[in-house]
Amino acid sequence: MAGGVVVDAQYLKEVEKARRDLRALIAYRNCAPIMLRLAWHDAGTYNAETKTGGANGSIRNEHELGHGANSGLKIAVNFCEEVKAKYSKITYADLYQLAGVVAVEVTGGPTIEFVPGRKDSLESPEEGRLPDAKKGASHLKDIFYRMGLSDKDIVALSGAHTLGRAHPERSGFEGPWTSEPLKFDNSYFTELLKGESEGLLKLPTDKALLDDPEFRRYVELYAKDEDAFFKDYAASHKKLSELGFTPSSCVKEAAKTSTILAQSAVGVAVTAAVVILSYLYEVRKNANLRFHALMAAPVVNEEYLKEIEKARRDLRALIYSKNCAPIMLRIAWHDAATYDARLKTRIPGGPNGSIRNKEELSHSGNKGLETAVELCEQVKAKHPKITYADLYQLAGVVAVEITGGPSIDFVPGRKDSNQSPPEGRLPDAKLGASHLREVFYRMGLSDKDIVVLSGGHTLGKEHKRSGFQGPWTKEPSKFDNSYFVDLLKGETEGLLQLPTDKALVEDPVFRRYVELYARDNDAFFRDYAVSHKKLSELGFNPPSQRPKVVLTLTIAAAVVAALVYDKCESFIKNMTSLI
Ligand code: HEM
Ligand code: HEM
Repeated sequence: MAGGVVVDAQYLKEVEKARRDLRALIAYRNCAPIMLRLAWHDAGTYNAETKTGGANGSIRNEHELGHGANSGLKIAVNFCEEVKAKYSKITYADLYQLAGVVAVEVTGGPTIEFVPGRKDSLESPEEGRLPDAKKGASHLKDIFYRMGLSDKDIVALSGAHTLGRAHPERSGFEGPWTSEPLKFDNSYFTELLKGESEGLLKLPTDKALLDDPEFRRYVELYAKDEDAFFKDYAASHKKLSELGFTPSSCVKEAAKTSTILAQSAVGVAVTAAVVILSYLYEVRKNANLRFHALMAAPVVNEEYLKEIEKARRDLRALIYSKNCAPIMLRIAWHDAATYDARLKTRIPGGPNGSIRNKEELSHSGNKGLETAVELCEQVKAKHPKITYADLYQLAGVVAVEITGGPSIDFVPGRKDSNQSPPEGRLPDAKLGASHLREVFYRMGLSDKDIVVLSGGHTLGKEHKRSGFQGPWTKEPSKFDNSYFVDLLKGETEGLLQLPTDKALVEDPVFRRYVELYARDNDAFFRDYAVSHKKLSELGFNPPSQRPKVVLTLTIAAAVVAALVYDKCESFIKNMTSLI
């Protein structure tokens, strides 16, 4: 084994960046299935008795890659090298498992908890530890029990064949298991129960899941209950990804952090205040939600939030398989950008789903967005409770995330409107800085918002719809700061700069931000996430915001009081008596 891995704050930061890069890479190369297979084949060599093999990166060794079962996986190893080159600290073992987790996520599957800290090994296990697709149930049990996994793990993990296909030149088998092999769902199990279907593959090991009664129980459960499949899959995949790995360094790190916290007197005061005030906050929030229920649709209750999470996964699968992130981001922006902060009572516009109205869709600024409206309809049909307003904004957030951009906090609860604002509220690409200010100030946004949101043009292209043509960057399906880098380079063959883009380098205030974002991708991501959230919430007051402000202010007051008077105890007693 190579030396231990120090999972400190910097390592965790690198992991988060690598996660974003993997999302972009997987979306751009359309390689989710093979990345998942790589993660599985690196981990699946584990022997629980001898504690050899497992998720240790050894699959990158030429001779292990040369094992018959690993045919084709060199492609995935090479893809991962692109990320490893940027984040050399991250071990191969972590990187491959992270790639597997991200592959499931971007194709619409469950979120799998990822704990970093795996050590790399150059010792490859002997050939023959992975399952042989030509065999049956008892072979599967032999192999998976050797890893320390269970019958339930075998069935849940086999559900990964919802993704990808077999290639005759690699395994001798051919074809996909499901009709949508880029979407992670429970269709592997529904297809399995249907029996042979034209054009779809069933390996002998897949069929074995029907023959064995213990296996079949789970197949039937997962075929009828996708939530159960996702829950079990996430648990089994986490186990698989941690074969041969005990996350000790992380645990220690976490323990260290909590010790420091515990030692802090102020920390104690804050914690106590938070507990008390969270209670008050919850009481107020519930009261607020009830009030909100009477006032407006939708009711953001637990069920609504659950639907949102499902829609988020469906949007990931849709955007990944249709490669439509740019237009989904554009629809979110165009639905929101009609907002007029000064006209609160007439037709204020904003993220209210009104862009779906034929009349608004036909505004010249919205050319091409019918496609996005139609794509969103597919998700709406499955989750009719969710408002269009929420759906479009969720689509925008997912589009940024799936292409490697920052995570954007999404708060649901927007109301739909059938009233479209008059044409002309969106910016005109042929104009300059003062026009941009007029339009964005009208929305209540700032100079910084203008520049950072324009970075959205890192994705997609102009389709000659307004007389221009081409993408803004060389990799238009990757969300990064290259829009700003290219903007500073000036006119570049094949790349687009609209007059409104150029205005950002000509105006000195705008330019300051362009320069910052061009040299500092982290600063861009941080500011983008904040401005995009603002954009997505124009005219929308999330029900929980006010209590949050009250909570923050009260905590601040608690800390100040505790520090100044050094009377934490009597203070907390007083607070308690307030409930
Ligand atoms: C249960 C025993 C298993 C057997 C016998 C098996 C066998 C196979 C075979 C023969 C292929 C075709 C390879 C090719 O021709 O490219 C394949 C592909 C695949 N396997 Fe499995 N597999 C098993 C379990 C798993 C598990 C547990 C996972 C993940 C958790 C997984 C994920 C995949 C994926 C995603 C592909 C598609 C790869 C691509 O499209 O390039 N498999 N598997
Ligand atoms: C600053 C003022 C802006 C102007 C004048 C502008 C103008 C344009 C134009 C003319 C197109 C080409 C449309 C087509 O041919 O399909 C476009 C595409 C796009 N815009 Fe903007 N835009 C602005 C701001 C933004 C913002 C703030 C975002 C997101 C935060 C954004 C996201 C996009 C995306 C993702 C595309 C590509 C769509 C695709 O490839 O289908 N734009 N924009």
